[in-house]
Amino acid sequence: MDRQQIEEMIDIAVRQLDFSYTPYSGFKVGAALMTKQGKIYGGCNIENAAYGPTNCAERTAFFKAVSEGVREFRAICIVGGKDGVLTDYAAPCGVCRQVMMEFCDPETFQVILATGKDHYDVFTLKELLPLGFGPANLD
Ligand code: THU
Repeated sequence: MDRQQIEEMIDIAVRQLDFSYTPYSGFKVGAALMTKQGKIYGGCNIENAAYGPTNCAERTAFFKAVSEGVREFRAICIVGGKDGVLTDYAAPCGVCRQVMMEFCDPETFQVILATGKDHYDVFTLKELLPLGFGPANLD
């Protein structure tokens, strides 16, 4: 992943903040998920009055891609903050890390956390989910 690709993903993730539906928390999250073929799927968080059905931005992006037949991914970029103000990294929740584990190689899949194009860090899924349980455990 070169700097230009990372900046493009940050741009797309930030644009997703406009679609984030957060009448309850006001915490807006945007994601940009890159497939192994280089296509980028955006995602935003979608809240619900019953709270539990809320879908995180990362899972929205994954489910959009998987529902179109894509199962191989290179990286995801995540941005977020209260009222869409990006002061800190918005790290993925445990459920989203587990969804990543289902479709991604933890050694190589990259998770880009950003507050803007000039401030980001890149982690592997393995760094965020050490000793993760995945499909290989059921072989
Ligand atoms: N949220 C995400 O979209 N991704 C995460 O990984 C963490 C949390 C959303 C869910 C909810 O709409 C809001 O942030 C506050 O939890």
